[in-house]
Amino acid sequence: MKKIFVTGADGFIGSNLVEKLLRKNYKVIALSYYNSFDDTGWLKYFDKKLVKNLKIISGDIRDFNFINDIVKQSDIVIHLAALIGIPFSYKSVKNYMDVNITGTYNVLEASKNNKIKKLIITSTSEVYGSAQKLPINEAHPLNAQSPYAATKIAADQLSLSYHKAYDLPVTIIRPFNTFGPRQSMRAVIPNIINQFLKNKNKIFLGSIDTFRDFNYIEDIVEGYIKVIKTKNKKIFGEQINLGTNKTYSIKEIVNIISLISKKKIILIKNKKERLRPKNSEVTKLLASNKKARKLIGYSPKIVSKKSLSSALKKTFDWYKTNQNLPIFKNAHYVE
Ligand SMILES: NC(=O)c1ccc[n+]([C@@H]2O[C@H](COP(=O)([O-])OP(=O)(O)OC[C@H]3O[C@@H](n4cnc5c(N)ncnc54)[C@H](O)[C@@H]3O)[C@@H](O)[C@H]2O)c1
Repeated sequence: MKKIFVTGADGFIGSNLVEKLLRKNYKVIALSYYNSFDDTGWLKYFDKKLVKNLKIISGDIRDFNFINDIVKQSDIVIHLAALIGIPFSYKSVKNYMDVNITGTYNVLEASKNNKIKKLIITSTSEVYGSAQKLPINEAHPLNAQSPYAATKIAADQLSLSYHKAYDLPVTIIRPFNTFGPRQSMRAVIPNIINQFLKNKNKIFLGSIDTFRDFNYIEDIVEGYIKVIKTKNKKIFGEQINLGTNKTYSIKEIVNIISLISKKKIILIKNKKERLRPKNSEVTKLLASNKKARKLIGYSPKIVSKKSLSSALKKTFDWYKTNQNLPIFKNAHYVE
């Protein structure tokens, strides 16, 4: 079985992907971000029975030699490590450049050096900015409305250039907003859920009239698996949206979660400090997933409003039944 190196494996999407790969008997080398507490993020909660094919290595994506040494041991590389918070990107631009751009350069260069057979780079729907044409397909103009988006565009373009210049077998996967178990509390859906769980009837949010194409984590993980498994060489040098082709406002999401939690909201308060600067706010995202359907046979399951509600219910129950509130900086994100 092929050995797959996953960066960002300690995080939300990465850990869900690694878990699925292990269940499918792949051998996985998982990068967890080095820290002095020997904390491997979500990887430390994995079932003991599952980890026989898992090797966890702690380190930093910014360190070329370190990354090159791991890539050398791998057949396929999946790059997810990144700084992803938009508000934090306003404050820490240089850090975002180092992790998101230089980090991606390290993965590209190491994959080129070691003649990797397949490299998957993770992009984001934020690279498109507010939709100029709907649905957003891969030809939509790129428009960085935050430093985060700018660093992801740079990383994507560098990746495409490695395909054109060196024939590197690289594919860019572009997930639209993803939700599900293990997502950090700073993201909007866990944040809303946890405000409800804290017995609040006043929900504090940023803009509630923005629209997003929300994807359940299991569908996104399936998208990665399809790219890993496909023998279709046409995926190389391509950017592929992973989305549902549906969009919901934050207000609608609050209403669905209110029904799930059986709690009425008295007020949704737009909080000034939660709003993005006016020109930085992305008002609407709605993916065209035509290319993903064609190239990799992508077919997300959580698309209808009914299935979205049941995925939100699963997510709600996960936050409710796991002892997650203390794991995250709950008090920091949920007033
Ligand atoms: N969550 C979403 O809705 C979403 C949507 C589109 C794209 N993405 C992309 O998916 C990827 C994963 O995002 P996520 O939602 O799982 O976020 P996450 O923050 O849970 O995961 C990112 C991981 O990167 C690791 N990391 C950060 N800096 C590092 C460094 N210097 N060295 C090594 N590791 C480092 C962190 O430890 C973290 O676990 C990112 O590339 C993100 O841009 C996420």
